[in-house]
Amino acid sequence: MAPMSKALAARAAELRALLQHHAHRYYVLDSPEVPDAEYDRLFQELQALETDHPDLRTPDSPTQRVIGRVLPGLVSVTHAVPMLSIRTETDTTAGGAQEFDKKIRSALDLSVDAPPVEYAAELKFDGLAINLRYEHGVLVQAATRGDGETGEDVTHNIRTIGQIPLRLLGEAPPLIEIRGEVYMRRDDFERLNAHQREKGGKTFINPRNTAAGAVRQLDSRSLADKKLSFFAYGLGDSLGWKQPDTHSATLDAIGAFGLPVNAERAVVRGATGLVEFHERIAAKRDALPFDIDGVVYKVNDVALQKRLGFVTREPRWAVAHKYPAQEQMTRLNDIEIQVGRTGKLTPVAKLEPVFVGGTTVSNATLHNLFELRRKGVRVGDQVIVRRAGDVIPEVVGRVPRERAAYVPNFRMPRSCPVCGSRVAREKGGIDHRCSGGLFCAAQRKQALLHFAGRRAMDIEGLGDKLVDQLVDGGLIRTLPELYRLGVAKLAALERMAEKSAANLVAALEKSKGTTLARFLYALGIRQVGEATAKDLARHFGALDRIMDASIEQLLEVPDVGPVVAQSIRLFFEQPHNREVVEQLRASGVHWEEHDGAATDASPRPLSGKTLVLTGTLPTLSRDEAKALIEAAGGKAAGSVSKNTDYVVAGDDAGSKLDKARELGVPVLDEAGLRALLAAP
Ligand code: IVH
Repeated sequence: MAPMSKALAARAAELRALLQHHAHRYYVLDSPEVPDAEYDRLFQELQALETDHPDLRTPDSPTQRVIGRVLPGLVSVTHAVPMLSIRTETDTTAGGAQEFDKKIRSALDLSVDAPPVEYAAELKFDGLAINLRYEHGVLVQAATRGDGETGEDVTHNIRTIGQIPLRLLGEAPPLIEIRGEVYMRRDDFERLNAHQREKGGKTFINPRNTAAGAVRQLDSRSLADKKLSFFAYGLGDSLGWKQPDTHSATLDAIGAFGLPVNAERAVVRGATGLVEFHERIAAKRDALPFDIDGVVYKVNDVALQKRLGFVTREPRWAVAHKYPAQEQMTRLNDIEIQVGRTGKLTPVAKLEPVFVGGTTVSNATLHNLFELRRKGVRVGDQVIVRRAGDVIPEVVGRVPRERAAYVPNFRMPRSCPVCGSRVAREKGGIDHRCSGGLFCAAQRKQALLHFAGRRAMDIEGLGDKLVDQLVDGGLIRTLPELYRLGVAKLAALERMAEKSAANLVAALEKSKGTTLARFLYALGIRQVGEATAKDLARHFGALDRIMDASIEQLLEVPDVGPVVAQSIRLFFEQPHNREVVEQLRASGVHWEEHDGAATDASPRPLSGKTLVLTGTLPTLSRDEAKALIEAAGGKAAGSVSKNTDYVVAGDDAGSKLDKARELGVPVLDEAGLRALLAAP
């Protein structure tokens, strides 16, 4: 053998061994060491090598079979109809979609001027494929895909998923198999991990592995704390059922049987339609409540699907078109400490910049010392970074690999890196905190940013750069000082023009008219998030009553438990916090108060009513009106429909008022709203 091909043969063997190792970790142990993107890269390198040099291909190469093994312990199931996989288009640009359409047109022998092909476009859910077998409408078996021919019986676990009907709705055929993906929503995943973190347990890597791991547990009790979800996307075997003519109609029928079918699907025409869908979903990807790793295109016409048939184990009529991966591998260059609003010290990973989930990431959270230790990461390691949705990027683990040199374990500093105050950890607690309070510039900055936030006082233009300048320049030490900033003082700041200084002063002025709930939230009391602030405002109606409330009285508020009550009490017991509140009120911050005792036993005047606000009211701001409606038990909706009970219109009311008239919805002015609110 020539030296060149010898080197190539060695590389192919190395790739096969690596892929085998990673595939075992992934499929059998549910515990991958490297991100999927890394696996894909190795797989593609091997595939390319084998294509260029077919003699390097071996029968045991991972490119030659579908991986997946039945675990000892679960009973294996032979699928009546094999569970195929789909070809993946890894070109994440529009080209991927065009390529698929081209292949379909040529396989169908369509001439250039033949009309565009109709496709069903769907999301590619990132979970575990499951076959649900219903006999006479009753769920009799749920099985994993396994190697496509033989899977595992996981009925005991699948039965715990509330979204999966145990009996189909409507008239069910003697036999129907429905296929789809079991997955975990991001919020359910975050909740699970937050809970694990709280109790100092091991956190899970990502929703996909967690869902896959849970489904294959022998004991379904381990699913108790893991909420799983399901989307149907296809059919398996059936008897006595006439499948509709198109894939999209088939999914409609599956939906009518009571199975969840994702609404984010479309029937599109030709390559243009596919590209549009791919782009539309890409723009939405972060806002979806669950992970997707791409979209799937399927020829919609079932007769055409049959004509196109299969190549090895993949249908010719479907393709998965990927998006950039949400997990990547990169080097951990350093670990820095960030001090948050409540003084919490968070270790932050400084990374070799890496493109993940659609953006370049160079910082990622490591949460806390305990988690960092459990993950065993040290500076210089190759780590796995995950960025999905709006969740901040995090380091989920390290790639086990020998370290070239000894690197000491990371330690938390004993004093705050920003203000030098002592760092302490509550007994039995997980978090390290700076004890400097508002003396600490980092905490002051965060407190200001929180106060100014969109959901708090909503001070437009007060962003982190400006806050840095204000705090570092010594212009602001306490929150009330914010309202004493004049145009002159602001305009003296670097990079601050007269005009923007005036804008900020105007924004500050505007923020003074607020709601009790926003004000409470803005104070940044520990444990008091937006929802709790709303509950408190609704229950007590006035700030003084909250400031003076006893623990017992606070516990009367729905959803307020001992920890929250304690924290509110503690906050208002501090004289300096009361002082801050007084000064803010003195500088003109105001809101509407009510008698409170909107105790939940007393009927509320607007309970069950939906109101829509439009135009400018004479004295109430939009937020104030909304808060009053909510405090009275009503709902403030954004658009008018036949379910709207009242439209409250002010000056310059537009199309919503027209719509109300058209539908015959009663229209009120501010006085009318106040009369409704005052009703017994
Ligand atoms: S269709 C014959 N549709 O992606 C076509 N699969 O290899 C069979 N997946 O693990 C699959 N979302 O579980 C299809 N909307 C979707 C999907 C989807 C996710 C998964 C499937 C399988 C892999 C395809």
